[in-house]
Amino acid sequence: MEPVSRIQECINLIYGHKKNRKSIGLVPTMGALHQGHLSLIERSILETDITVVSIFVNPTQFNDQKDLLNYPRNPDGDLATLSMKLRQQDIVFTPDEKEIYPEKDTRIFDFGHLDKTMEGKYRKGHFNGVAQIVSKLLELITPDKAYFGEKDFQQLIIIKHLVKILHYPVEIVPCPIIREEDGLALSSRNQLLSPMERKESALISKTLFTSVLRSRERDVEAVRSWVIETLNSSSMLQVEYFDIVNSTDLKPVKNWNEKGEKIGCIAVKAGKIRLIDNVKFPDF
Ligand code: PAF
Repeated sequence: MEPVSRIQECINLIYGHKKNRKSIGLVPTMGALHQGHLSLIERSILETDITVVSIFVNPTQFNDQKDLLNYPRNPDGDLATLSMKLRQQDIVFTPDEKEIYPEKDTRIFDFGHLDKTMEGKYRKGHFNGVAQIVSKLLELITPDKAYFGEKDFQQLIIIKHLVKILHYPVEIVPCPIIREEDGLALSSRNQLLSPMERKESALISKTLFTSVLRSRERDVEAVRSWVIETLNSSSMLQVEYFDIVNSTDLKPVKNWNEKGEKIGCIAVKAGKIRLIDNVKFPDF
């Protein structure tokens, strides 16, 4: 694998590969890599000739400076992990903040309702920051495919929208959530949990999975309230939101027999650590 941090060097490498008609897969990450990231990388390796893994903790998507400071970082461990996973021709792109943002990025994206709900309500400006960095990465790397995890479901929908409004010639590939044995969705933030919080956090996915079974006989609002009450009854967990929405427009679902795929998205605080997860509700 080729580790590069200078933007021009990365562009040159990619230019060479494109001249040789190689297809490019991009896996954007903020580092502290785990099995979830590795599953995106494996998919990219399967589907494209050259995989570019970017590692950049993007400051513009953090609405809370403390969160940015505390965000887990493991540059040496990440490089060691990637050196075992990536092939000789693949690229690890670790740009510098000053090169990525030579000036303040003042672009404001309009995502309509998509960034006003759920995460957007609790993390003001977060998705605008995500759009700023993802648009820069898509423009620099010009990948044929870019891989995003379904754990950040709202992010995935917003990135698909970004690609649509800016006409980027890239296929966005959603990849399934990878879970721990007890069901907790993998996240770089999991390592910040205390042992007790980590144990209790398994209740999040357990409750989500049970809510799918309950949706057979309860209406949407009853299922929604049950999830919130169940999780809040744990002294260690506090639900920020649990919304059951249409998976395309993220509008609230009122009735199970409405058309379209339905997804329940949740944010829960385990102590100081904010965890997100989601579950799809099949039509029975
Ligand atoms: O999902 C993430 O890790 C980040 O939001 C992303 C897409 C790498 C942009 O910084």
